[in-house]
Amino acid sequence: MLARWLAEYEMYVCICQAVTEKQVRRAVERGVRDYAGLQNTLGVGSVCGRCRECACQALDEAVESRDAGDDACAAGSLPASALT
Ligand code: FES
Repeated sequence: MLARWLAEYEMYVCICQAVTEKQVRRAVERGVRDYAGLQNTLGVGSVCGRCRECACQALDEAVESRDAGDDACAAGSLPASALT
């Protein structure tokens, strides 16, 4: 049940522009590799700027996942700490 909920749950990384982690992952799949690219493609950080750290973390994770060739957000690959 928890794994299913986590698989469907979508985290917002930028509230002002309503940008989610999923959109960040899609941007990475399309070639975005840095924060400036996220700003240009999704508008992340273009209003209040408070999302920069969260957006950069989501970007780094998406790039690492993409480069590693696996999906770190798949329900089966959650860290044990996320299930406690
Ligand atoms: S939360 Fe991203 S610009 Fe405000």
